[in-house]
Amino acid sequence: MDAVLVTGGAGYVGSHTVRRLLEDHRRVVVLDDLSTGHREVVTLFERVYGPEQFCFEHVNLLDRSALASVFEGHDFCGIIDFAARTLVGESQDEPYRYFENNVIAFQNLLDVGKGLPIVKSSTAATYGEPRAEHIPLKESYLREWIADGGFENSQLMPAAVDFEMLLGWYKKHIVFKLCEEDIALLKIPTNVYGITKMMDECMLRYAEQVTGGRYVCLRYFNAAGADSSRLIGEDHDPETHLIPIVLQVALGQRERMTVFGDDYATSDGTAVRDYISVVELADAHIKSLDMLLAGGRSATYNLGRGQGVSVREILEAAREVTGHAIPETIGPRRSGDPATLIADASRIQRDMGWATRETLHETLESAWHWHRLHPHGYRVVQEERFNPFWNRWVNIAAHRADRPWRGETQLMEGSDDMAYDPECYLCPGNTRATGDVNPNYKGVWTFENDFPTLVWDAYQTQAQLGPYLSRTSRGVCEVVVYAPNHAQRLSTLSLGAFVQVVDAWAEIYGRLGDVPEIVYPLIFENRGTVMGNSQPHPHGQVYAYCEIPDLMVKPQLAMFESHREKTGRCFVCDANRVEAGDRRRVIVDRSHVMAYVPFAAQFPYDVIIVPKVHAASLLDLDGEERCDLAAGLRDVLCGLDGLFAAPYHYTLALMQAPTDGVDRSYHMQIHITSLLRGPGLRKHVVGADIFGNLINPSDPDMTAQEIRWAMRKEKQPPMNTDKHG
Ligand code: UFG
Repeated sequence: MDAVLVTGGAGYVGSHTVRRLLEDHRRVVVLDDLSTGHREVVTLFERVYGPEQFCFEHVNLLDRSALASVFEGHDFCGIIDFAARTLVGESQDEPYRYFENNVIAFQNLLDVGKGLPIVKSSTAATYGEPRAEHIPLKESYLREWIADGGFENSQLMPAAVDFEMLLGWYKKHIVFKLCEEDIALLKIPTNVYGITKMMDECMLRYAEQVTGGRYVCLRYFNAAGADSSRLIGEDHDPETHLIPIVLQVALGQRERMTVFGDDYATSDGTAVRDYISVVELADAHIKSLDMLLAGGRSATYNLGRGQGVSVREILEAAREVTGHAIPETIGPRRSGDPATLIADASRIQRDMGWATRETLHETLESAWHWHRLHPHGYRVVQEERFNPFWNRWVNIAAHRADRPWRGETQLMEGSDDMAYDPECYLCPGNTRATGDVNPNYKGVWTFENDFPTLVWDAYQTQAQLGPYLSRTSRGVCEVVVYAPNHAQRLSTLSLGAFVQVVDAWAEIYGRLGDVPEIVYPLIFENRGTVMGNSQPHPHGQVYAYCEIPDLMVKPQLAMFESHREKTGRCFVCDANRVEAGDRRRVIVDRSHVMAYVPFAAQFPYDVIIVPKVHAASLLDLDGEERCDLAAGLRDVLCGLDGLFAAPYHYTLALMQAPTDGVDRSYHMQIHITSLLRGPGLRKHVVGADIFGNLINPSDPDMTAQEIRWAMRKEKQPPMNTDKHG
C-alpha cells in the first residue's frame, strides 16, 4: 500500500487527519519542519503506530533537494497539504514570510510531487469581506462576484505590503502565469494570508493543466475542538485563536480575553464565524483524498457548519461548558478581520455526503477536555507522580525514552508450539524433580510447591539481635497450573478456560484465607525469561503468608485507610472515577471491569484491572462479573502479546483483601507489569530505581494508547486497503 504524504502533519488540523488515517490502518509519511508543528505529536505516532505505518520526515518545503529525497524514498498515493503559516494578524505584519512559506513552498511541492492527487487546505479568508446578501457563502461566490464587476480594487487591509508589490513578487518567483480573472480573485481577500491561499488555489488549477494532477481545495472556516483520544489538540505559540484563548482564561492562565471590536454590523456587534469540529474537518480531507483516488474530478469545497456564531456567543457557550466566569474587555478591531464568515457547505454534502454532526457545544467540550488535561499544551512529561497503589513517588521521565543508548536488546522467545513436552515438569503424567508424578489433569490443577519459600512446619523463631529481628516464615506455597496444554498461556486460553482459572484463584483465596493463621494469600504469575521464568507451561503461584507482606500490601493498606479517613471514600473507587473521566489511560471499559495504565505507572507497561463494583476479593464477584474480569484480562494480555509481537513477559498479581478478619472495606485489583520498556528492550532496575525513586521513561498516556491500538489490531485485522493502492 502506497503511503499518504501529509505535509504539516504535526500541526493542529494535520495531526487530527494523520491520526484518522493511521486509525484506518493506512500508511502515512508526515513531512514537517516543526516550526509550528509539535515533535511530541510525531513521537506519539511513532510509538503507537510503529514504522510499518508511520514515518516522519523533518523537512522544510523550501528545501527542494530534501523534498526531492523524500519523494525518492517513498511511494505515495496522494498528498494532503497542511504546511502553511495561518495567522491573519501575523501575515499582515510579515507578508514576505507568508509568500515564501505558503506560495513558494507550495510551488515546490507541486513541482516535486508531479501529478499526484492532492488535497489542499485553503481558507475562508479567500472570501474577503463578503456582503450580507452573499452569506452563507457558496464556493461560486467569488467568480460570480467578479463577473458582476465586484472588487476592482484590492481589499487588502493595512498591511506591510501593497497589492502591486505583491503581484510583482508573484511574477518574479512563480512559474504559473496569472490571468485577468486570477488577479481579480487576488483582490478579494482582506489579508495577506487569504491572498497567499488564493495564489495556491490558482497554482493548483494551472498545475492540473500541465501535469494532469487532480486536486481538492478545502476552504475551512474556523476549526475548533480536539480528538476524542484527548492526546492531540490545539496548541499554538503564541495563541491567537478565539476558542483556545477563551479556555485559557477559564483555566486561569489569562486574566481576561479581549473582544476585538463590538461595532461590526452583526446582531451583537461582534464578529461572526462558522466554527467547525477539527475531527469532522479531518474526515473531509480523507473523504476528499479517497474521492480523488477513486478517480474523482478536481473540486473546491467549503467546510463549515453553516451557522454563524458571534464572539459573544462563543464566550457565553464557553462559560456554560467550563462553568467559569471568563472575564472580557472590548478592544479595537483586529486588522484584516471580516465581520461575518459563514459557509454554505451543501456542495461537499451533495458530492461526498460529508456534513457536520457535532454541535458547537460538543466541539467546545472536546476543546475544554484537551485544555484541562493539557494546560500547557504539548510537553514531554517530566515530573514526579504519586502512586497511591504503592504509596510512593515515581519519576516520570518520558524524554529518557529518546536517549541514544537504549540498552541491549534481547530476543523475546516465540511461543512454544508443543502441546506436550516430555521434559516439562508441569505437563500431565510427567515426573517432577521430587519424583512425584503429575496426575492426568484436565483443567486447572493446583499442587503444593516442591521448593516452597514458606512452609507450614517452619521452625519457630522470634529473635532480636541488636537492630535485627527474625520471625518464623510460616505459610503455604502452591503452584496453580492453568491448563494441561503446554503451548497455551493465559492470553491464548478460551474464555471458558480463563473463567476456570479465575474460579480456581477464587477457590484458592477462599480455602487458604480460611486457615486461621494465614492472613494474606498472594496469587501471582511470572511469565517469560525477562521476568526470570523460563518455564513456559501456563501456571501461576500462590504464597499464603501468616504476616501481611511488606512491599505492596502494607503501604497500600495504609494509603487506603488514610484516604478513607480524609475523604470518607474508597481510594480505588476514586481512582476508577478519575481514570474513567480522564479516559486517556483507560484501555478496557467493560460492564463490570475496567483496565488502565495508572496515572503514576512505575514501569512503562503497568496495567491495573479492577472491578467496578466495590469487591474485596474474587469471592465477592458473581459468575457474570468473573467472566467479565476474565474477558478484560485476556484482552489486555492479548493486546500486550500483539504490541510486542511475541508472548508478553510480565508479572501479574491479584491484590485482594487480607484474610485476617479485619474489615477494611478493601477494593481488589489485579496488577500486571513488566521489566520491558519496548520490544526486546529491558528496563534495568538499578541505581536510582533501587535507592532513590523508580524512573518510568514512558508517558502513561502514550503507553495506554499503544496498548489500545495493539488490542484493536489483535481484534480486527487490517482492512482491505486495495482501494487506496
Ligand atoms: N477574537 C477576539 N479575541 C481574541 C481572539 C479572536 O475577539 O482574543 C475574534 C477575532 O477577531 C475573530 C474571531 O474572534 O473575529 C475568530 O478569531 P480567530 O483568530 O479564532 O479566527 P479567525 O477567524 O481570525 O481565523 C481563522 C483561521 C484562519 C482562517 C479564518 C477564516 O485562523 O486561518 O479563520 O475565517 F483564515
